[in-house]
Amino acid sequence: MNGIPAGEADAAATLLTNIGELTTNVGSDGDPCGTLRDAAVLLVGDRIAWVGPAADAPLDVRVVDAGGRAVIPGFVDSHTHLVFGGDRAEEFAARMAGQPYAAGGIRTTVAATRAATDDELRRRLAGFVAELHGQGTTTFEIKTGYGLTVDDEERLARLAAEVTPEVTFLGAHVVPAEYADRRDDYVDLVTGPMLRACAPHSRWIDVFCETGAFTPDETERILAAGIAHGLAPRLHGNQLGPGDGVRLAVEYAAASVDHCTYLTDDDIALLAESDTVATLLPGVEFSTRQPYPSARRLIDAGVTVAIASDCNPGSSFTSSMPLMIALAVREMGMTPAEAVWAATAGGARALRRDDVGVITPGARADLVLLDAPSRTHLAYRPGVPLVGTVWKSGSPL
Ligand code: NIG
Ligand code: FE
Repeated sequence: MNGIPAGEADAAATLLTNIGELTTNVGSDGDPCGTLRDAAVLLVGDRIAWVGPAADAPLDVRVVDAGGRAVIPGFVDSHTHLVFGGDRAEEFAARMAGQPYAAGGIRTTVAATRAATDDELRRRLAGFVAELHGQGTTTFEIKTGYGLTVDDEERLARLAAEVTPEVTFLGAHVVPAEYADRRDDYVDLVTGPMLRACAPHSRWIDVFCETGAFTPDETERILAAGIAHGLAPRLHGNQLGPGDGVRLAVEYAAASVDHCTYLTDDDIALLAESDTVATLLPGVEFSTRQPYPSARRLIDAGVTVAIASDCNPGSSFTSSMPLMIALAVREMGMTPAEAVWAATAGGARALRRDDVGVITPGARADLVLLDAPSRTHLAYRPGVPLVGTVWKSGSPL
């Protein structure tokens, strides 16, 4: 019972004990994963109340025996686009037959999303949330960006806010077809009425800063307007080629710049000196056949790296964080421990959250019991369903 807060080891508590390998992410030098062996975690209400050696744990509470298996924090997926209608399976099949990925496909999903009712979108979203939970994701961000009218963007932000506090306004996803010849008017719409409609439902402002989407000047206008409305910046950058995304993200103190597929040495130096997380999205390279960026190069330069699914119907239609871990290890040069950290604590950093992604007293009780003796199995056994029981806010899902 050493170190257990008085009064917390009561009937409302659950002790998860006999954990062979516990990833706390409360790191020490040489082990950012803060690994404990033969450990136990006490959950009280929606919080973690105590973490320590199993031998010191209380016995007068409900006990869940982990049987020597591994426990990690719930995954934090800091980048998804989950409110949309339709799908683009044919586009995917054409790509696998040799067509390149082009951001123009976004417009196909915009048309299907506009045609869907709120209830259709809500039902689909509920299905995705169940899919995320089942795969161990307990915190997730959702972007708008498939509406691109004031009313459609507002409803996507509102529907996303029904399932997560991490909503990102991405009216600047692409210029919709009806504004193709007057893009300045579209930027006025995004920075004016659309932002005013979406800001009450949103925490973040994002722009797809890329050739074929929004220019650096437009990106600056949109980020500045979002910040003036109380939103915090994050950015899609350097996805389809080298560009100004990373530089702008750092200049605007964005929480994260996402994709980072094409980086120069200067981009990496800027990131290393900043608080901006580089969020890598290996599902995109997998599904578009682009080259994978090197996480190793970023980590060795001192950049904080997160990995996320980017789940969307075009460039990465998977919500599996275990798959992201396997790809980041196999294709991006991460160690299994780095990849698990990036999918949990890294995602939390990318969302500027300190209550998730860690297993420590006071944190939200979000945990995943793996059907495996170590977190390494997430990369070692790709495609195998290793996520066992998932607790979110102290309750098993
Ligand atoms: O993150 N890069 C921009 N947006 C999405 C792709 C969306 C789509 O193709 O529908 C992404 O990859
Ligand atoms: Fe994205």
